[in-house]
Amino acid sequence: MTKNINITLKIWRQKNASVKGGFETYHAANISTDMSFLEMIDVVNEQLTLDGKDPVAFDHDCREGICGMCGAVVNGRAHGPEKGTTLCQLHMRHFSDGDTIVIEPWRAKAFPIIKDIAVDRSAFDQIIIAGGYISVNVGGAPDANAIPIENG
Ligand code: FES
Repeated sequence: MTKNINITLKIWRQKNASVKGGFETYHAANISTDMSFLEMIDVVNEQLTLDGKDPVAFDHDCREGICGMCGAVVNGRAHGPEKGTTLCQLHMRHFSDGDTIVIEPWRAKAFPIIKDIAVDRSAFDQIIIAGGYISVNVGGAPDANAIPIENG
């Protein structure tokens, strides 16, 4: 069941790799539990923009759990509390009214912070350039026409 929750966010803010960063606290009110985690950050960013402040920079692309572009450390866990779930597929229903959520970037020398939660992941490109790869059987992608969609 959808409901709205109020949460406190402690988000790592850092202008670039060469300056010191720190946590800033934000209050996100009336967040629908149907929202994705990234949509919740969008809401926070809309308010920051309206207030004339710098929105939080974060990586994302497909927002469908496919591309692997999104990512952050949420409450000390990579990609948040749901196992096997990308950050863009994490939904706010997994949080409770009154929760405090700590959001920070990856902490690794190989991934220097570009800004806020966004990190430079070009180190992965170096692995690919060097011929590195992994072999994982992920099965076949389902044919789009095989997925039944009800008429609206
Ligand atoms: S934005 Fe593509 S997997 Fe999350």
